Amino acid sequence: MDIAATNTGWWFLGKIKRFAQDPKGVLVRKLHPEVREQYRLSEYTGPSGYWGELREYQLSFLKSMGMRSNDRLIDIGCGPLQGGIAFISYLEPDRYVGVDICVPALAEGYKQIVKHELVAKNPRLLCSRSFGRDVLQCGAFDYAWSSQMLYHLDPDLIPDYFRSVSGHLKPEGTLYADILGSEAHIPEDKLWRGLRHYFHTKKFLEVEAGRYDLSMENVGRIHEYGYPVPCQLRHNHMLRFRKHA
Ligand SMILES: C[S@@+](CC[C@H](N)C(=O)[O-])C[C@H]1O[C@@H](n2cnc3c(N)ncnc32)[C@H](O)[C@@H]1O
Repeated sequence: MDIAATNTGWWFLGKIKRFAQDPKGVLVRKLHPEVREQYRLSEYTGPSGYWGELREYQLSFLKSMGMRSNDRLIDIGCGPLQGGIAFISYLEPDRYVGVDICVPALAEGYKQIVKHELVAKNPRLLCSRSFGRDVLQCGAFDYAWSSQMLYHLDPDLIPDYFRSVSGHLKPEGTLYADILGSEAHIPEDKLWRGLRHYFHTKKFLEVEAGRYDLSMENVGRIHEYGYPVPCQLRHNHMLRFRKHA
C-alpha cells in the first residue's frame, strides 16, 4: 500500500475525531460510536479530544520514571480510567488500584475494563473519601499517581491526601502529581463538575508532604513528557514526592 496515502488517511481520521470532540461536531459524534464514547468519557476527565494522547502520556510518563510491569500502582482520582486502562494493560495482574469519589466515573471505568478484556488482570476500583486509606492495607504500593487531580483538592484536604499516600507507599515509594502552572489563567472559583481549581504553591505542598515523610521535587512541565501541547493545562508542574526510607 502507498505509505503517503495511508498517512494521509490517518491524518484525516485524526482530524475527524478531533472535530467530533468540538462542541460543533455533534453530527460526527452521533455517527461514530468510538468518538461518541470518548467524548462522553472526557466529560469525567477533560480536556475533550485528546483521549488517546492523554492515555499514552500517563503510561509513558510513569514508565520513563522507572515503573516496571511488576510494580504496584495506586491511581488516586482515577476517573473513568483514561490512564487506568493503559496502566492495567501494562502491569501484571493484581498490580493496579484506582480510587475516586465519583461513582459514575468508576462505573464507566468498570465498563472500560470489560470492553478492553482486562478483567483477568484483577484491577481494583475503590470509591473512597479518604483516598483509599479506609480500605487498603498500608505500604503496598511502589508508585502513587494523581493526574489532573491535586488542584481540585481544597487546601484543608491536602494533609489528609499526603497522610493517605504516605501510608500507601512502600519505603522509598514515589508519588507523582501535577499542579496548575501560573499560566493556566483559570479563576479559582471556576467549577469543573462541582470542584474548584486551587493554585496550591509548591512551598505549601512541600511543607505538608514533609509532615508525612515525603520529600518533594519539581520534575518539570507536563508538556515535556508528552502531555498534548494544544491543551490549556500543558504548563502544569509535575511534582515528585519520595517516601523516606
Ligand atoms: C480531571 S479528573 C482526572 C481523572 C484522571 N486522573 C485523568 O487524568 O484522566 C479529576 C478526578 O479527580 C477526582 N477527585 C476529585 N476529588 C477527589 C477526592 N477528594 N478523592 C478522590 N478523587 C477525587 C474526580 O472525581 C475526577 O475523577
